[in-house]
Amino acid sequence: MSDKQPFLTDIKTLRERARKHIEQGAVTEGYNADRGQVIELLNAALATEIVCTLRYKRHYYMADGLNASIAAAEFLEHAQQEQQHADWLAERIVQLGGAPNFSPEGLQSRSHAEYVEGETLKDMVREDLIAERIAIDSYREIASYLGDKDPTTRRIMEEILAQEEEHADDMAAILEAL
Ligand SMILES: [Fe+2]
Ligand SMILES: [Fe+2]
Repeated sequence: MSDKQPFLTDIKTLRERARKHIEQGAVTEGYNADRGQVIELLNAALATEIVCTLRYKRHYYMADGLNASIAAAEFLEHAQQEQQHADWLAERIVQLGGAPNFSPEGLQSRSHAEYVEGETLKDMVREDLIAERIAIDSYREIASYLGDKDPTTRRIMEEILAQEEEHADDMAAILEAL
């Protein structure tokens, strides 16, 4: 390597490396993260998203009483976004050569956030806010663990994290109004 490219791998080495292990698809030799560990973290996030989707769906259908229509609209929108997050995670797991775990068995224990049905509308909103806050902390940790080792996965986690922060903000606003 010449002194003029202190940070970049030279093109010849890059090309040679890309030709090796082509069956690994998007995972190249320059991939710096612990792939098994990343897939495990993504599967935990996937379980969290599935549980959150199910909880918001339950709350959407059970929302009742005064002020319920605004909350219900938010529950439905969040359910759809959690589903989208689950899809992004599953897609990334496959890109990394892993298998997304959609098994209902053990789903609750793989998930970071909990499935709490809640009796009243206020209970539901409070439980959703708690679940969002759990997801926010866990996703922030995952993103910082990934750092520069896997920037693509980190970006996906950061994108999801930003939406969870919006969700938490929405739930906090509704809770205050109830
Ligand atoms: Fe989510
Ligand atoms: Fe969320």
